[in-house]
Amino acid sequence: MTAPQRSTIHILGLGAMGTVLAVDLLRFTNALVVPLFRSQERLAQFQKANENKVSIRKIYAKGSPLLSYPVEQSECPETFSKKPIDNLVVTTKTYQTKEALAPYLPYINENTNLILIQNGLGVLELLKEEIFTDSKNRPRLFQGVISHGVYQDKAGIFNHAGWAGMKVARLPWTDNDMIQKKSVVENDAAKNSLVKLLTEPKFAKEFGIEHTTYQEMLFGQLFKFLVNACINPVTAILDCLNGEMKDDCGPVFTSIIDECLQILRLAYKPLFDYRDKFNGNEEYPEMDINSILTTDNMVSEVTRIGCEVNSKNSSSMRQDTLFLRDIEIEYINGYVVKLATNLNLDPNCCKVNKTISELASLRLALNRSRSINGDWRKD
Ligand SMILES: NC(=O)c1ccc[n+]([C@@H]2O[C@H](COP(=O)([O-])OP(=O)(O)OC[C@H]3O[C@@H](n4cnc5c(N)ncnc54)[C@H](OP(=O)(O)O)[C@@H]3O)[C@@H](O)[C@H]2O)c1
Repeated sequence: MTAPQRSTIHILGLGAMGTVLAVDLLRFTNALVVPLFRSQERLAQFQKANENKVSIRKIYAKGSPLLSYPVEQSECPETFSKKPIDNLVVTTKTYQTKEALAPYLPYINENTNLILIQNGLGVLELLKEEIFTDSKNRPRLFQGVISHGVYQDKAGIFNHAGWAGMKVARLPWTDNDMIQKKSVVENDAAKNSLVKLLTEPKFAKEFGIEHTTYQEMLFGQLFKFLVNACINPVTAILDCLNGEMKDDCGPVFTSIIDECLQILRLAYKPLFDYRDKFNGNEEYPEMDINSILTTDNMVSEVTRIGCEVNSKNSSSMRQDTLFLRDIEIEYINGYVVKLATNLNLDPNCCKVNKTISELASLRLALNRSRSINGDWRKD
C-alpha cells in the first residue's frame, strides 16, 4: 500500500484570510501549509512572537476556544527553497499582489495552481497584462470568492466573525473561455491537486467550499462586487457604521449600481447573454443572472445585506481609512472606471464611480493629514 500523497500549499499573505484558510487546512487536511512572509523580519516575528503557530478564534460559534496550529515550514524571499511551487494561495490585499508575487515568479510555471482569494475585480487583468505575459508559461488560475468575515483585534488575535463559505472556480486566461462546460468542473474535481485538496469532504464542509464553473462563480463575484462598491466607499467617505445610512442610502446606491451594471454588462457580455444561449443545454449549468443583477433588485439587496443584516459592521474600507492603511478602491469602483477606458466608452459614463473613488482616496488622505497636522475643526 502506498502512503497518500501529501500536497504542499504556499500561502502568500498570512493576514485575516490567509489565517482562516491555513487554520482549517491544518485542522482538516494533511497538507503541508507554508506561509510566505514579505521579509526576514516578518518571518522572525512569526517564528518568535507566534511560536510558528497560526491561530484564530471562531467567534461565530459561541464559546469556541482559540484554535492554534503549528506550521512545519515558513519562508520569505531570502530563505525560499527555490523549488517549483505546486499550489499557491494569494491572500494579500489586491493592490499588494504584484509586489508580493515578484520574488516567487521563477518558481511558478504551467504546473502551478494559483488561487486568488481577494475581494474586488481586476487582479486577473493584472496577471494577464503585467505578470504572466508569456502565454506558454502561465499557472493554472483559480479564484475563491470568500464571504467569511475575519478581523484582527487589538491584541493581534484573528477573529472569525461571520461564516459564509467560499465559491471556487477555474479562471479563464482569455475572454473567449468565459463560459465553461460542467465537464471543466468535473475534470478539475477528479484531477487537479488544488481542487482535490479544497474539496476534501471535511475541509470543504467546515470552510463551506462550493466548486463551480467560472460563470457561476462570476455571478457571485459580481453580486459581491456591487455590495462592496456601495458599502465600502460610502461608509469610508461618510465615516459611519453600515446601518447608520440605511434609510437614506437609496439614491447614492442607485447611482453607483446603475453605472456599474451598464459597464459590467458590456465587459462581461457572455455572462449577461448566458440565459438565452446556454440554459436548457445539459452540458452547462442553468443560471439566471438577468433578473438578479438589475439596479432595483441590487439596491434593495445591498441595503438589506449591507445596512440591515450587517448593520453594526464597520466596513473594511472604513477601517482602513481609520487606521491610515491603503484602500482597495482601484479594484472596486476604480475597476469600473478602468473598464470604461479599456472599452473606449465616453468618460462621462463612469463619472459616479470615478468621483466615489476620488472621494474615498480623499477621505484617507484627510485622515492621514489630520494625524500629522491635527484636526482643524477643533481649533
Ligand atoms: N478580512 C475579511 O473579512 C475579508 C473578507 C472577504 C474578502 N477579503 C479580501 O481578502 C483579501 C485579503 O484581506 P485580509 O483582510 O486578509 O488582509 P490582511 O489581513 O491585510 O492580510 C494581507 C496579508 O498580506 C501580507 N502581505 C502584504 N504584502 C506582502 C508581501 N509582499 N509578501 C508577503 N505577504 C504580504 C500582509 O503582511 P504584512 O503584515 O507584512 O503587510 C498581510 O498579512 C482582500 O482583498 C480583502 O478585501 C477580506
